Amino acid sequence: MTGVKMSDLEAVSVDHQFQQKHLLGLSDYSKEDILYVLEQARSFREILDRPVPKVPTLRDKTIVNLFYENSTRTRLSFELAQKRMGADVVNFSAGTSSTQKGESLKDTIRNISSMKIDMVVVRHESPGVPYFLTRQVDAAIINAGDGAHEHPTQALLDMFTMKQIYPDLTGRKIAIIGDISHSRVVRSNVLGLKKVGADVLLCGPRTMMPAYANALGVNVSYNLEETLGWCDIAMALRIQLERQGESAGLFPSIREYHENFGIKMTHLDKYPDFTVMHPGPINRGVEMESDVADSDRAVILNQVTNGVAVRMAILYLLSGGIRQG
Ligand code: NCD
Repeated sequence: MTGVKMSDLEAVSVDHQFQQKHLLGLSDYSKEDILYVLEQARSFREILDRPVPKVPTLRDKTIVNLFYENSTRTRLSFELAQKRMGADVVNFSAGTSSTQKGESLKDTIRNISSMKIDMVVVRHESPGVPYFLTRQVDAAIINAGDGAHEHPTQALLDMFTMKQIYPDLTGRKIAIIGDISHSRVVRSNVLGLKKVGADVLLCGPRTMMPAYANALGVNVSYNLEETLGWCDIAMALRIQLERQGESAGLFPSIREYHENFGIKMTHLDKYPDFTVMHPGPINRGVEMESDVADSDRAVILNQVTNGVAVRMAILYLLSGGIRQG
C-alpha cells in the first residue's frame, strides 16, 4: 500500500483555528499558529520514518518553486516535501530562466500564475518579495528566504528540532552565535522563540551585532565562553560574506573570527550541557571545528530531516488542510 490514510493526520489534537493563507514571516504568526504548525509537523515526521514515506495530501495541487538566490538544502527540502505529498511541482531558478533575458519579477510571476498555480515557494535577495507576490497572484505564498529579512520555515524547523530535545521551550536558553546583522535565520528565530517564551541570547562580534538587537527584547553578549556556559542550545550561523557588501571587513580575518567565536571541541568538554545547531551551509573550521559538527552533541542533520516534515506541515496547512472524517 502506498501512502497512509488521511485519518493518520488527525492525530494532532491541538485545538486551534489556523487561518493563515500565506507564510511570509513569523512576525505574522501567533504563538498558537507556530505551535500548531509544529504539532502538525510531528505527524509528518513520523510518516518520514515509514518504509513508504508518502501521503497523497497534495495530489491535486500545483506548486512552483521560484528561486532567485542560490539554495541547496532549502530548495531540495521543499521539493522533497512536495513530492512526498504527491503535488505537481515546477521548478524555476533565476540562473536558467528568462530573468537572464531581462524579464521582470512581476511578468515572470504573472506568466507562471496564468498556468494555474496553487502555491508559490519563493526565495529572493530582496526583502518583501514574498509580500509583493501576494498582491500579484491568487496563490498561497511561502517565503523561503527574502534577503536579510525572514526565513520562517528555517526557524520552524529549528524550533521543531529544539522541541525534540526540550518539549517545552518556555524559559529555555537559546544562544544564536555569529553574523547576527545579516541573518534572516536570526530574525525569524528570535520572533518565533520569543513568542513561545524562550530566553534568547545573541552573541557575535560587535561589528555584526545590529544596533536594534536590544530592542528585540533579547540578551546580547560579545563573549563566546560566557554564552556557551549559559545556554541549553548554541546555534552557530554562517558568516554571510555575500551580504556584507560594502561593509566587508567586519572582522580582521577568518582565523581571528574562528579564534573568538568558533565552537571548539574544548568547549564541548568544558560545558557538557549545550547542544549544537547550525542552519547550514557550514563553513567547517570557521563557525565551528569540523569535529564539533560531526560530534554527537550536534543535531545538524536532524535539522535537515526535520525540515522536510515542517515544510510538509506548512504545505498541508496552506493548501487548506484538506481533512476527512
Ligand atoms: C540559510 C539561508 O539561506 O538563509 N541557509 C538555509 O536556508 N539553510 C543560512 C545561510 O545561508 O547561511
